[in-house]
Amino acid sequence: MIRILANDGISSHGKQLLQEHGFVVDDRSIPMDELPGKINDYDVLLVRSATKVRQELIDQMQRVKLVGRGGVGLDNIDVDYAISKGIEVVNTPGASSQSVAELVMAHMFTGARFLHDCNRLMPAQGHDKFNDLKKKFSKGTELRGKNLGIIGFGRIGQAVSRMALGIGMNIIPFDLIAKRTVNIEIDFFKIKDASVIIKLGIHPLEELLETSDYITIHIPHQSGNPPFLTKDHFDMMKPGVKLINTSRGGVVDEDALLNALNSGKVSFAGIDVYANEPTPRQDLLEHPNVSVTPHTGASTVEGQDRVWEEMAHTIIDFFSEEQ
Ligand code: 3PG
Repeated sequence: MIRILANDGISSHGKQLLQEHGFVVDDRSIPMDELPGKINDYDVLLVRSATKVRQELIDQMQRVKLVGRGGVGLDNIDVDYAISKGIEVVNTPGASSQSVAELVMAHMFTGARFLHDCNRLMPAQGHDKFNDLKKKFSKGTELRGKNLGIIGFGRIGQAVSRMALGIGMNIIPFDLIAKRTVNIEIDFFKIKDASVIIKLGIHPLEELLETSDYITIHIPHQSGNPPFLTKDHFDMMKPGVKLINTSRGGVVDEDALLNALNSGKVSFAGIDVYANEPTPRQDLLEHPNVSVTPHTGASTVEGQDRVWEEMAHTIIDFFSEEQ
């Protein structure tokens, strides 16, 4: 009997699929300090980003054949080490792109119309100072016609571009790998055969930084690596730029971001991920020009259903090939 530990949870659909194929799925969460002592009860370890699968844990794994990351980022898993020990590591790179992209848009709309600040001030002052608040928040801007720089033009960056194109934003993509043009297919929900292909050219990073009104970042990060976006990059940005980060906290130098927010160089930041999760720095969380979410980019009902359905099929295929 193949036993699976889904230590950071699993969707009910994914669990059911696995059970229908004879797998035993345990979705209780075993604390990190107890995991080494219990891991040999399982053939598969499934995680999101909370459980850290480091060398010390991998060294205890006598029985685990596969570690599955329900999601994209593999920074919480020592992938090469696991593979060197004969353990397969898999993730679900495409399943949550739409959910993350929708959160990016939510942060952009929030920044454009001060929703973060309205939600803070209206409960306290809306009753007595309604007209003052109306005046305070009456200089919002439209997204249409604005330049959106997308750093990292993979699945999530492209999903953002589909939505932003629909609103009428100008897309300025930069990518570490893709160098020329990328075809973006926009298909309209429930309208069959009505998809449109738009060719987007990849731009130099400098151009993106200098011309973007909004910047969203979608590149991977390995823990211990230096941030990608540093003070020098902030210095090159357009004054008043709005920055969204739903990738990894470590991708952005948080000191440099705070300085840029305090000087007004960055007028707004929409942040879903933090360098020091799960205890992000307080000065960032409470900055008045920041909209914050607790790393919930991929956390939608639909996104998690897709993630765990894809993972379930991967596991089913893996063990059927083994037999
Ligand atoms: C990912 O890498 O897939 C996202 O950051 C989501 O991470 P989570 O599954 O821990 O929410």
